[in-house]
Amino acid sequence: MVKSINLAIIGTGVVGSSFLNQLSQITSSQIKFNVILIAKSNKSLISQNYNPIDLQNWKSEIDTSSSKNLSIDELISYLSGSNYPVILIDNTSDSNIASNYYKLTSNGISIATPNKKAFSNDLQTWNQLINNVDSKGLIYHEATVGAGLPIIGTINDLIATGDQIEKIEGIFSGTLSYIFNEFSTIESNDKKFSDVVKIAKDLGYTEPDPRDDLNGLDVARKVTILSRLSGLLVESPTSFPVHSLIPKDLESIETSQEFLTKLSNYDYQLQNLKDEASKESKVLRFIGKIDLIAGKTSVEIAKYDYSHPFASLKGSDNVISIKTKRYQNPLIIQGAGAGSEVTAAGVLADTIKIAQRL
Ligand SMILES: NC(=O)c1ccc[n+]([C@@H]2O[C@H](COP(=O)([O-])OP(=O)(O)OC[C@H]3O[C@@H](n4cnc5c(N)ncnc54)[C@H](OP(=O)(O)O)[C@@H]3O)[C@@H](O)[C@H]2O)c1
Repeated sequence: MVKSINLAIIGTGVVGSSFLNQLSQITSSQIKFNVILIAKSNKSLISQNYNPIDLQNWKSEIDTSSSKNLSIDELISYLSGSNYPVILIDNTSDSNIASNYYKLTSNGISIATPNKKAFSNDLQTWNQLINNVDSKGLIYHEATVGAGLPIIGTINDLIATGDQIEKIEGIFSGTLSYIFNEFSTIESNDKKFSDVVKIAKDLGYTEPDPRDDLNGLDVARKVTILSRLSGLLVESPTSFPVHSLIPKDLESIETSQEFLTKLSNYDYQLQNLKDEASKESKVLRFIGKIDLIAGKTSVEIAKYDYSHPFASLKGSDNVISIKTKRYQNPLIIQGAGAGSEVTAAGVLADTIKIAQRL
């Protein structure tokens, strides 16, 4: 028998658009997905009778739509009237939507999302969401760490089958992966840190203001999620040591342009570290680390031997090494950790898993 599931998709940016495109192309004989709502920040397409929206024309239709966005209460009320089970796909980075996941799941609405906010803010929100035994909706968030890479599902499976996570180390930012892979290489090079940051910005790898990558907070959010999943309940992404790559004196500079111009004055700091590592036949990498045995979480610059899997990383790949009681030789997962197609695929895979369970 074919199972019908209604989808409400919020966010039609790079990930949201890829998600809709991939959804329109999947063929499943067991599940029929009907999209009943598509929303962006100020407009939405809402199927009043819960009939599926035509996925061939959603882009032009949403642009000419006169429907404003629903408030969370209006959204819950609309979705609760649905004839089939509903999954909400939050393809935004909006804090307000994220802060309402508990309310949504308590009302029987399941969620699939790449939005890190709800899972990496305060511990209370995490506990409320993840340990909510009374929740009527399911919540999957694989793409919040490593985009489409199977990281969260793998950690959950290891724990569910009785393994014990001992240590997690990983490169969780595509941007900082690229910067360090170019800056600190096995073959000697004379690249300056500030020049590599400028190239990364020109290639579109950084946020519009590169300080949003260099401050380490995005990595800290991902490490917070993995730490909590593995059983180390960190309070927040700012409750453990996070190494910022922004020189102290440049923290309060107003424009990103001025910041980039002045960054070269501080190249010596990372250059010294790079030279030191090179003398030891090591490279530098910007990593998140969770030591479950010592009960410590951190985001830092670490040195790795040339033979280590992190040393030979290329481009903007992410990599995670998971040491467990069973995997004393760590389990390594590596691949693209950003990009609309792989991220959307991670969200779509979660959507399918939820649909199979509903
Ligand atoms: N891009 C990646 O490679 C990647 C990788 C991993 C995770 N993620 C995560 O995926 C999510 C989406 O990223 P993205 O790159 O697709 O971002 P994006 O291109 O900036 O798109 C965000 C979308 O969300 C919509 N939006 C924002 N606030 C909204 C609100 N309150 N109500 C309804 N719609 C709202 C925006 O509307 P408008 O179109 O009207 O502006 C836009 O369509 C983020 O949480 C991001 O951290 C992205």
